[in-house]
Amino acid sequence: MRTIIEPFRIKTVEPIRMTTRQERERLLAAASYNLFGLHSDDVLIDLLTDSGTSAMSAAQLAALVSGDESYAGSPSFFRFEAAVKNLFPFKHVLPTHQGRAAEAILFSVLGGQGKNVPSNTHFDTTRANIESSGAEAFDLVIPEGLDPNSLHPFKGNMDTARLDAFLKEHGATVPCVMITVTNNAGGGQPVSLENIRATAAVAHKHGKPFIIDGCRFAENAYFIKLREKGHTSRKVEDIVRDMFADADGMTMSAKKDAFANIGGWLALNDDAMAQSARERLILTEGFPTYGGLAGRDLDAIAQGLKEIVDEDYLAYRLRTAAYIAERLEALDVPTVKPSGGHAIFVDARALLPHIPPLQYPGQSLAVALYLEGGIRSCEIGTVMFGLQSDGREIAAPMDLVRLALPRRVYTQSHADYVVEVFENIARDKRKMRGMKIVWQPPHMRHFSAKFAPL
Ligand code: F0G
Repeated sequence: MRTIIEPFRIKTVEPIRMTTRQERERLLAAASYNLFGLHSDDVLIDLLTDSGTSAMSAAQLAALVSGDESYAGSPSFFRFEAAVKNLFPFKHVLPTHQGRAAEAILFSVLGGQGKNVPSNTHFDTTRANIESSGAEAFDLVIPEGLDPNSLHPFKGNMDTARLDAFLKEHGATVPCVMITVTNNAGGGQPVSLENIRATAAVAHKHGKPFIIDGCRFAENAYFIKLREKGHTSRKVEDIVRDMFADADGMTMSAKKDAFANIGGWLALNDDAMAQSARERLILTEGFPTYGGLAGRDLDAIAQGLKEIVDEDYLAYRLRTAAYIAERLEALDVPTVKPSGGHAIFVDARALLPHIPPLQYPGQSLAVALYLEGGIRSCEIGTVMFGLQSDGREIAAPMDLVRLALPRRVYTQSHADYVVEVFENIARDKRKMRGMKIVWQPPHMRHFSAKFAPL
């Protein structure tokens, strides 16, 4: 069949409150043109993030009821641990309340002044946790990963030659090598199995543990199945096991590829490292059989991990992103190519060349999407990265707008609606103006800055 359908029926619905353009004009002004300031029930299609926004299955909701809330030794923990180890056979699994808590614990053990941590591209919370420990974070993705038009099938790959050179030069200061699958900050681009193995080999040659940020492991595995030679007829679960076979540990946000609304874990093989991490876990998250979670959350994750490797789901998931990207390209709305797993990244700077980066073309586009169609997206550009620590402002390397797709939440007609909103915007794009910032905090300004249209 040509049409890839949503492989689920809908049993429980959440009504969308429709708004008019006039209402949205008022709501935007009240939020100072910052989409993080909107109430989410004033949003028609919320593409702010794919994190924690999944629809749970009937089996997950049922699992919530059987969650056991004992402080220590809950059966929910053992179901969670077994589900994690089924796909990722690490010796120690520590539940955390979300991904960044796992990162904070890992770098409280491995980080510190003078340390250097390489990855393909660190996600911003990973980078922040490394830096707040006093260490430095380095991104060594292949050059194709930085070119929005390159059609390389695995743009998330590590540049293993640069990694080797980096370890030769800084070896003594490197506590571990990381890789993020898929590479969120680089457009949701996958990493090949060959590259994961090569990265592990370089890390191990230099005697360094190899840690995978596995947030979108299932999407990455499905890209391997589709694009890497020799994997077409393999089960996704087996590809996942291969991806993690050479790793010494992983950090995970269960808010992504575990269909959970909250949760995460840190997994490690090394006994001593796991012991230090567990001590920190007790201090900051909770007893090791619940970490930062309720028993019911552990059960929702255990069930979610069984569902996420379903290939009909993954085919629908990746096709949705590709479908929207193809239709946007047909409207001459440029996107980062090829489309990633969890999101479409629109190149706002290329779409709106008359708006200079310091007038935030990404923010203008994000605001227009809300005004025109009630769509919430996220600027990933000069608003997010332009403000330097000395207060200067420079253009970010790219001005992108991310349309992140919540899992199992929206249907094809929602996707068609998003495309139609873009069609209307693109028609009048020359009339669009930039924005200025009228107030901003010193750090992480994208969450709370106040804007005004120019
Ligand atoms: N690693 C990656 C690759 C991520 O995308 C995220 C979160 C995290 C770690 C942190 O996990 O949110 O559970 O603490 N990404 C979300 C996003 C926030 O919108 O891309 P967390």
